[in-house]
Amino acid sequence: MTLSKKTQRIRKFLSYYAPYKGLLIADLFSSIFIAALALILPVCVRYITKDVLENGTENILATILQMGALMLAIIVVQTGFAMFFDYKGHDMGAKIERDMRMELFEHLQKLSFGFYDSQKTGQLMSRLTNDLLNLAELYHHGPENLVIYGTQFIGSLVILLHINLKLTLVICLFLPFMAIYSFVFYHRLQKAYARSRSRIADVNMQAEENLSGIRVVKSFANEELEIKKFSAENSYFYQSRANIYKNEALHFTVIEKFFTQLITVAIIVVGGIWIAGAALDVPDLLVFILYAAYLTSPVPKLAFMVQQYQDGLSGYRRFREIMDTIPEIRDAENALEIQITRGHVEFRNVTFRYNEEQDYVLRNVSLDVQAGETVAIVGSSGIGKSTLCSLIPRFYDVIEGEILIDGINVRDAALCPLRQQIGVVRQETFLFGGTVMENILYGRPGATADEAVEAAKKANAHEFVMELPNGYDTDIGQRGVKLSGGQQQRISIARVFLKNPPVLIFDEATSALDYNSEKAVMDSLRTLAKGRTLFIIAHRLSTVRSADRIVVLTKEGIAEQGTHEQLYALDSVYAKLYNTQDL
Ligand SMILES: Nc1ncnc2c1ncn2[C@@H]1O[C@H](COP(=O)(O)OP(=O)(O)OP(=O)(O)O)[C@@H](O)[C@H]1O
Ligand SMILES: [Mg+2]
Repeated sequence: MTLSKKTQRIRKFLSYYAPYKGLLIADLFSSIFIAALALILPVCVRYITKDVLENGTENILATILQMGALMLAIIVVQTGFAMFFDYKGHDMGAKIERDMRMELFEHLQKLSFGFYDSQKTGQLMSRLTNDLLNLAELYHHGPENLVIYGTQFIGSLVILLHINLKLTLVICLFLPFMAIYSFVFYHRLQKAYARSRSRIADVNMQAEENLSGIRVVKSFANEELEIKKFSAENSYFYQSRANIYKNEALHFTVIEKFFTQLITVAIIVVGGIWIAGAALDVPDLLVFILYAAYLTSPVPKLAFMVQQYQDGLSGYRRFREIMDTIPEIRDAENALEIQITRGHVEFRNVTFRYNEEQDYVLRNVSLDVQAGETVAIVGSSGIGKSTLCSLIPRFYDVIEGEILIDGINVRDAALCPLRQQIGVVRQETFLFGGTVMENILYGRPGATADEAVEAAKKANAHEFVMELPNGYDTDIGQRGVKLSGGQQQRISIARVFLKNPPVLIFDEATSALDYNSEKAVMDSLRTLAKGRTLFIIAHRLSTVRSADRIVVLTKEGIAEQGTHEQLYALDSVYAKLYNTQDL
């Protein structure tokens, strides 16, 4: 990475503080004050024990009370700062996290189908949640810890050196050992945490697979096998927990209990000897013990800060990775606000494949669909019917050739209006959690409830919806699981009936329906399709018999096209397909 690129990255990283500059400065100031005020307290102790009690002043009681009042004031101010810093500091981190999550989510909405084909949803989710949480911790605690522990360490070192140089050096002798020990064991502890996280993920996956496939498990009577598999994962997880506790004991306990007390003992022993030799006095020893904690506690924190920095930065790197992904499919410069008035769709020598490793799905396909025509695309499974149709709303871009709608190349059209004017019922139905009404209104968010009901009637959904416990207000469960496959399909058809676009694509939209329901939906579809261009993909050829034109797609491209009667009379590919289905 060149220097300028690196500075750019750092600048970008810091830019998330920009809206909260005031808050950041206030937070850093309160950190300094908290650390500095904490350093004053032992000075007061020294003043009372040494200057007042040992050396004696005129009015001992009054001076002690004054000092008490001063210390009380310090504590109150310090608490005030600490409260501000705890609340507002975390708040700032959470705000930055919120902003970044929003930015990421908005960007995810822009990325194309191709991006999602190659990503795992679980990993994207963890970028939206865990990564940003770690990052917020860094944004908030990173500078703050540096200031607090820095002030604490340097401040106490200066004061200790001022009180007694040699005794300070005694403490400093221990610090490198403490630092090395904490780095080594903190690193081991982090590894143990990471292993445990991956083990619990395995347990979750095993349990989720088992529970969602419990019907298969039971029908094969494989419960014993499942228990064995789960028991293995469960004990791996236990081992990882045990490893964490061992490493926590080695890290925290040794540092907090052993090292800290060891230093205190060293101060008392060495200091005691020096007091005996009159090289030190008791009040200084006392103050030394108080300050020693300030000097030593930042040392193990260093390992923690390094880890936090690494975690946060790797989260940030993954965040940028997505943010820097440019959507493959986006509006061209000067994109046209397409207005589909007729619905004339033309494929000109279209060639397409999903990626470079794969073979071409479509080669040099040309198809001219007249405005208002109903075209059925048929052909064997995996031949490219869905692919062909997904090129019209630009879910993917053609590799060669072009697709024109009303004479405008879809690549020149602005995406949003283009997609708003093409209605797609996809092969795989997807409904959102929520009510039936909410799901239908998804087709045209501003529509009225009456319009939604009208659309449901056309999709032959009204009757079954009215039989649901709360009618249109019935909650259909996550992804619509509380509805049957055919019911889900009818809701998704109603969604497009409500959208009412000039170009329609029905990809196996009625495959889950029985003969009568399908016939009813197809009848309304024919009414809707009047004056609109309609693409229908269906395996059940009886569904597409009445189409204006049937296009037969094969490996070689479009093999035949014409009406049912014409193609049947050809007695070739279509006739064979039709006859095998009739059997
Ligand atoms: N998102 C994708 N990424 C990579 N390859 C894909 C993707 N979607 C489909 N394919 C491949 O493209 C080819 C055509 O698939 P397509 O879904 O268009 O077939 P289809 O004719 O609609 O089949 P079916 O009748 O089974 O729905 C298949 O070989 C498939 O494996
Ligand atoms: Mg398909």
